[in-house]
Amino acid sequence: DGYSATQLFGQGVSYTYDDVIMHPGHICFGAHEVDLTSNVTKNIKLRVPIVSSPMDTVTEAEMAVAMATVGGMGFIHYNCTIAEQAAMVAKVKAHSPGFVVNVACMTPDTPISALDALKSTKNFSSVCVTDTGALGGKLLGIVTSRDIDFVSDRSTPLEEVMTREVVTAPAGTSAKAAQEVLRANKKGRLPIVNAAGELVALATRAVFVGERFLPPQGAPSLDGQGRLRCGAATGTREGDKERIAALVAAGVDAVILDSSQGDSTYQLQMLAYIKQQHPALDVICGNVVTGAQARRLIEAGADGLRVGMGSGSICTTQEVCAVGRGQATAVYQVSRVANQLGVPIIADGGIQNSGHICKALALGASAVMCGSMFAGTTEAPGDYFYINGQRVKKYRGMGSLDAMAKGSEARYLSDTQNLKIAQGVSGTVKDKGSVRKTVPYLAQAVRQGFQDLGVQDVPQARKALAGGSMRMEGRTGAAQAEGGVHDLLTYEKTPW
Ligand code: XMP
Repeated sequence: DGYSATQLFGQGVSYTYDDVIMHPGHICFGAHEVDLTSNVTKNIKLRVPIVSSPMDTVTEAEMAVAMATVGGMGFIHYNCTIAEQAAMVAKVKAHSPGFVVNVACMTPDTPISALDALKSTKNFSSVCVTDTGALGGKLLGIVTSRDIDFVSDRSTPLEEVMTREVVTAPAGTSAKAAQEVLRANKKGRLPIVNAAGELVALATRAVFVGERFLPPQGAPSLDGQGRLRCGAATGTREGDKERIAALVAAGVDAVILDSSQGDSTYQLQMLAYIKQQHPALDVICGNVVTGAQARRLIEAGADGLRVGMGSGSICTTQEVCAVGRGQATAVYQVSRVANQLGVPIIADGGIQNSGHICKALALGASAVMCGSMFAGTTEAPGDYFYINGQRVKKYRGMGSLDAMAKGSEARYLSDTQNLKIAQGVSGTVKDKGSVRKTVPYLAQAVRQGFQDLGVQDVPQARKALAGGSMRMEGRTGAAQAEGGVHDLLTYEKTPW
């Protein structure tokens, strides 16, 4: 009954995830017994094999911290200076779970209206007041909603309303000790200050409460020294050698050589250079969509491959350049080669729901990479704003004119051309809350999917795929419509 992957994908048709449906297998274990642990590179295992895209509206330090905290991993984008990118990586590597990633600070003469603006664009509800208006300045007080809710003149400076008597803890206080101080004092915020009274970190009750409710399977992704895992993307130009050295110095765990078409002499040369200069660094090459592309990069030493061309929600590569592949076909065909050669692949782009993640893993991917799924979350860079009453954030392709204007054109190999050809678009996505909730929810849904497939972990899924016992078939348009919600006038959509 049904088809093996070799049969289904060997018919000259390019399938997307929605074109394919998996057949259920036999269940002899609970969903909680499913283990999704898988490799994102040859040397890095993740308990939750979900990673965030290196895009400037998706992954900066805050996203990378959150992704690693829930058992996945974030890849910091490189549409910024070398110093900025390395600083973001260093921030993730230095982060202690339990503390705030981006501490909002303002100077004492700042009007309350500036805090109002911060509240609506960033979800912050309080600020630390320091003499410099930044972390590292002398702590003068804190301002929370309680201090400002009843002040009608919003031009009042913060120094007139701030709480000056603040419970603080000394630099070096552990997350556990900070939690204890917050509990004992019934406070919401605990600034950590050094001997000179300068603000060095901030612990909050909200962060602790959020982390306490993480499911056990979402234990953080840590390196050998107990620091959060963090990846970063880079290009293949001469100047990127300096970028890579700075990322390594900042403690990066793996780099992505970022290109929409990774089967190039540029990647092969950069890969050889990295393997010689930074032999301990894991390198993810790509993107690729065929077995031949994959083999060339693997034989040259790639530690992981990113798979997908034009499948992303903001991608126009297939329309503009006539190349690419349906994502389900691309993942399966590349995995056939890569899995045999022992190199993990990341299914990159086109993930719209947990079913797609399940299909990607069942078709041989070791991890999935998401852009739009995590854009619009609290941890994504950028400000919230409103369109037609809907709270949104910006999400843009790194090959959109918008992003290229800021310097990301190298990914699309147009760095020497005067005429920039866009291979992506820029738009908005709705407010999706925190990835600290989204990712555990997705992971649990995938565990349930694995249970239905009758496979208890990724190696078992791999075996069933290669042996042909993982059965599947194509879906007609009507079958796809039937598989979605239909015949309802209105309904409440699940958030993810
Ligand atoms: P999703 O579907 O998760 O896709 O939003 C994210 C992935 O899309 C790729 N990407 C692009 N592809 N033009 C493209 O053709 C672009 O401008 C662009 N920007 C990002 C990238 O692989 C990302 O992980």
